[in-house]
Amino acid sequence: MKLTRFPRVRITHAPTPLEFMPRMTEALGGPNLYIKRDDCTGLATGGNKTRKLEFLMADAVKHGADTIITQGATQSNHARQTVAIAARMGMKCEILLEDRTGSKVDSYKHSGNVFLDRMYGARMQEVPGGTDMNAAMSQLAEELRGKGQKPYIIPGGGSNPIGALGYVVCALELVDQFNTQGLDVGCVVHATGSAGTQAGLVAGFEGSRSDIPVLGIGVRAPRQVQETNVYNLAVKTAELLGVAGAVSRERVQANCDYVGDGYGIPTAGMVEAVTMMARLEGILLDPVYSGKGMAGLIDLCRKGHFRKGDNVVFLHTGGSTALFGYMDAFGGLTPL
Ligand SMILES: Cc1ncc(COP(=O)(O)O)c(C=O)c1O
Repeated sequence: MKLTRFPRVRITHAPTPLEFMPRMTEALGGPNLYIKRDDCTGLATGGNKTRKLEFLMADAVKHGADTIITQGATQSNHARQTVAIAARMGMKCEILLEDRTGSKVDSYKHSGNVFLDRMYGARMQEVPGGTDMNAAMSQLAEELRGKGQKPYIIPGGGSNPIGALGYVVCALELVDQFNTQGLDVGCVVHATGSAGTQAGLVAGFEGSRSDIPVLGIGVRAPRQVQETNVYNLAVKTAELLGVAGAVSRERVQANCDYVGDGYGIPTAGMVEAVTMMARLEGILLDPVYSGKGMAGLIDLCRKGHFRKGDNVVFLHTGGSTALFGYMDAFGGLTPL
């Protein structure tokens, strides 16, 4: 796999650390738990979109773009990171934020990622839940072209084969860290949404024949849909990389039992996971993705899904900025 073939904007503070979590490991009494700190990627409070944006923004430059258009939920981490990198590269950025949760809470509407979107200079519009976001982005692109701008559309979550290359890079980085640290890893667990993170990891691990299983913990779609989305994108990513056929369907595994009432709606498991990680490891997760991902990992450990002594890596995909939009889920300003 020759990643140097692809234009890339070098922005990630990589390699991100791979650390042991002694107190979570002890508290759960199961596998040895490690954490890959992609919350420390260095762009706009960090997170998984930084790696994808390295390739997507380079592609935008290649296409002569002067304006980036993207979309996400109101508290989108992807939108926040995209706005920041566009600012850094001197481009305009338009974001469409879908009211996916229906929350009327002031902090959800205006704090957390939304506050930072404004700080980084985004032009933003909120659209109702259920809007066809791809159509809305295409229409906006048409309008901007009419005004003489050169828009480039980045799909929600940065999840297309170009964006997924960022997680191929992460897979190779992990393999290097495992080998350097002498760590035989049984599974990499992370939150999966728009599918690009898991698709890139699977394409990277399988394309390099590293034999590292990945388990995505879903935050929105049911399992069959999520696995199909990840698989289709992993296949296309492998083709782009020149290793067509490397990904087989059974290597794509998702568990979507921890979504709760829906995307972005807090669950008791998420609140427990975020609080536990803060108090045992001093690490902040987020309420929408990594919090639910960790809730899944905690529950699977308690159910004996992993053997004692197995090495399991939780990929922290970032997002803690959104905590400020979700203070109510944690008792607001009243101490827990
Ligand atoms: C913090 C965080 N974790 C995980 C994900 C899920 O990653 P992906 O959309 O690549 O599946 C996202 C996506 O927005 C995210 O913001």
